[in-house]
Amino acid sequence: MSKLSQRHLLGIKDITREDIELIFETADNFKDVINRPIKKVPSLRDVTIANIFFENSTRTRLSFELAEKRLSADVVNFSASGSSVKKGETLLDTVNNILAMKVDMVVMRHASAGAPHFLSKHIKANIVNAGDGTHEHPTQALLDAFSIREKLGSVEGKKIAIIGDILHSRVALSNIFALKKLGAEVMVCGPPTLIPKFISTLGVKVESEVSKALDWCDVANVLRIQLERQQLKYFPSLREYSLYYGIDKKTLDNLKKKIVLMHPGPINRGVELTSDAADSQHSIILDQVENGVAVRMAVLYLLAGATN
Ligand code: CP
Repeated sequence: MSKLSQRHLLGIKDITREDIELIFETADNFKDVINRPIKKVPSLRDVTIANIFFENSTRTRLSFELAEKRLSADVVNFSASGSSVKKGETLLDTVNNILAMKVDMVVMRHASAGAPHFLSKHIKANIVNAGDGTHEHPTQALLDAFSIREKLGSVEGKKIAIIGDILHSRVALSNIFALKKLGAEVMVCGPPTLIPKFISTLGVKVESEVSKALDWCDVANVLRIQLERQQLKYFPSLREYSLYYGIDKKTLDNLKKKIVLMHPGPINRGVELTSDAADSQHSIILDQVENGVAVRMAVLYLLAGATN
């Protein structure tokens, strides 16, 4: 069986194009599995996985749990709220206590960038980063690129615009790494205050007018305004943001070519996307969610080095 070049999935920056292609080929098989009447395979029987979430999540957490259960793994879930973290326990103590219960893999979301990297230096279990602060969200980028490949046949040569709050987005950074490795052209678009200065060093185009980004791209991946991470005021009001950067169905319908609309969720309906755009035939937002389970099954399976 082919294996990934890494024993953890900490970020897309650390993995190769070959790793990504192997994950996609494996996910193709698992997508068939989850669409069968019996959606379960025994691939990770006797493997115990802990989902450790120090930050809120709906999609990522449920998707990992479902992926683990579809692979027949034993699953334990931990959330920081209601745990001994509230009594002052350190991250390392928390994780070592969970591992003492004979856990093989850890899926972790944490508000601090680098938290999974820190853990990987101290524990033996395989670690999957489910989002670390404003740094990376590797499985989101993998499922996004997998969904583009499914919809358009390939990622190579496609023009992808990532639109919105780039500054606070771990999805943006992981997407840029994944899409560039797969040969796409990438543009970031948003108010200049929400675009980090270093971004052009990653080989992406930068645009501040959303109409120009939409005219240019084959795919628009629209990001959420992350108000919970914004200590400063980056734009005058949500109303003004929506006026200049919000995307509605009429705008999409009036473009010269048909483009694909994506969003990692959760959507601020009426801010970055109107409901008629999010629910339109342009949108593959729910396909992204479906693909997330197959892609996460592939990641866990390959990291465990399991055989069918
Ligand atoms: N896309 C994403 O990470 O969503 P959640 O925060 O709900 O997991």
